[in-house]
Amino acid sequence: MRGSSKEIKSNSRGRTSSNKSAIVTSALPYANGEIHLGHVASTYLPADIFTRFFRLLGREIYHICASDDFGTPVLIKAEKESKTPADYVDLWNKRDYEDFKSFGISFDFFYKTSSKENAEFVQYVFKKLYEKGHIYEQAVIQFYCQFDEKFLPDRYVIGTCPNCGAENQYSDLCEKCGRVPEQILEPKCSICGRPPVKRSSKHYFFKLSNFSQQLKIWLNNNENLQSDIRNYVINWINEGLQDWDITRDLSWGVPIPMPDAKGKVFYGWFDNHLCYISTLTTYLQKKSHSTKTDGKKYWNDSEIYHFIGKDIVYHHYLFLPAMRMGIDQEYKLPDYIPTRGHLMLHNQKISKSRSWYISLRDFIAAFNPDYLRFYIASVAPYSQADVNFDWNAFSEKINNELIANVGNFINRALFFVQKTFDGKVPEPSSENDVDDRDSIKEIEKIADEVGFLLSENELDKALRRILKFATHFNQYFQKKEPWSNKATANTTLFIAVNAVRSLAIMLEPFIPLSSERIWSQLGMDESGAGSIHKQQWKSVSQITIPSGHILGNVEPIFRKIESKDIDAQKAKLSM
Ligand code: MF3
Ligand code: ZN
Repeated sequence: MRGSSKEIKSNSRGRTSSNKSAIVTSALPYANGEIHLGHVASTYLPADIFTRFFRLLGREIYHICASDDFGTPVLIKAEKESKTPADYVDLWNKRDYEDFKSFGISFDFFYKTSSKENAEFVQYVFKKLYEKGHIYEQAVIQFYCQFDEKFLPDRYVIGTCPNCGAENQYSDLCEKCGRVPEQILEPKCSICGRPPVKRSSKHYFFKLSNFSQQLKIWLNNNENLQSDIRNYVINWINEGLQDWDITRDLSWGVPIPMPDAKGKVFYGWFDNHLCYISTLTTYLQKKSHSTKTDGKKYWNDSEIYHFIGKDIVYHHYLFLPAMRMGIDQEYKLPDYIPTRGHLMLHNQKISKSRSWYISLRDFIAAFNPDYLRFYIASVAPYSQADVNFDWNAFSEKINNELIANVGNFINRALFFVQKTFDGKVPEPSSENDVDDRDSIKEIEKIADEVGFLLSENELDKALRRILKFATHFNQYFQKKEPWSNKATANTTLFIAVNAVRSLAIMLEPFIPLSSERIWSQLGMDESGAGSIHKQQWKSVSQITIPSGHILGNVEPIFRKIESKDIDAQKAKLSM
């Protein structure tokens, strides 16, 4: 795969010029709170746009995800709500899936890290790593609450941050200064408030340091990785990698399969990324109704894409590949790890504890989900740069770009055919003038140009190119004045309607719900052309709607955002 990566630059497949199947994963959301705009901007939306584009290319691709069910944050919240952790994560698993679905995220399968399939796979991987000498045991001093009679890992201890002096911080993360306290001051049990004691416990460590050289080689050789990230990850390796404590003295987690490890489970970051693999296998087996279906072969024959936000680079560029190396690359390493920056909200960091965030569910209750998809896709680059969400910028972008440009052209063209030609696409004349020829050329080259950008993950640039296409056709329509030029109106509208069809398909990855509406207004559903989601990307550059074709029911696709809608949202944020 790598050898062919840069050869074909000029067609719509870009560097992914193979015909291999592809597996896309999105970082697994913790099963303990609502999905918000920050999640979808960095990870789920880019992954979905990419997946939908690949489907249009006719490539076999599966988008896999799951809820991340383990870890102390989940456990503590479940306890606060007096639910069993299993019931608690079940609720969030369902809720997250619903939210994603209503936002148009088209997962092929959404499962959970607490599935029995994942537990079995995680234990298998651990045993193999152990046999290969990549795991060692060591006694570790842990906080222990004598009153609650349990060990207190991570968030079970609160205290004062030794770095910045902030009180009431978790022992694994200070929310004030963002650092991981080496040793929290004045520790207290977060359940009963009493000071804990220290007690020794046997833990297992993964020898990340065994893989320094191999990781460096892999990072240097994989030209699909974003180069700025590659460089700072290599710097981390040069500074020396720490081995990972993969044990927690808890009952909620994947049990450690060792004779003397009762009451111990794996740390969530040991099991969660393995769920990418176990979930793909489970999905393929369910789909084929056979437990014999070989997930491993499918994995190794596919291109692997892990979409993530930049906060989990360490885990995906070091820990994840090292673990796969440790089991002899039974499952291949990622080909791509598309990594994007954080979403800021009015230039401030999103914070759930300070209620400075917008949940996906609230957003969708107020606006067409495609508006959010359009806005984020057009402002989020393929890089680590942070992206800003701003209510005013949002409404301007939707009103001026999506509605006044794209929506306007589509509506004008279709409405004109409905009114003047009784909804029937007119017969073009045999003579095209220079504007017609330019416009046909624009259609002919657009599939490759946009396709190339999409396959390179340059989603924002691809969307801008599509907007340029819409601008071209607005100008064409305006210049040809079909309302006063009877002689050329036929040709103008014939070309314009076909351009609308190209737009509908190109926009499908970005605004799938609106594309469905454009498709039905074009009368494509009745014409036997099949669903918009199953079109062929290359047909974007073909003129396939014949004269005589009958349009569907034409009406405005989008509704303008009023300033009062925006004011209401700002008030909610208490700005
Ligand atoms: N739940 C983690 C987070 O939100 C991401 C897990 S991604 C996986 O930071 F790779 F580990 F699965
Ligand atoms: Zn206690």
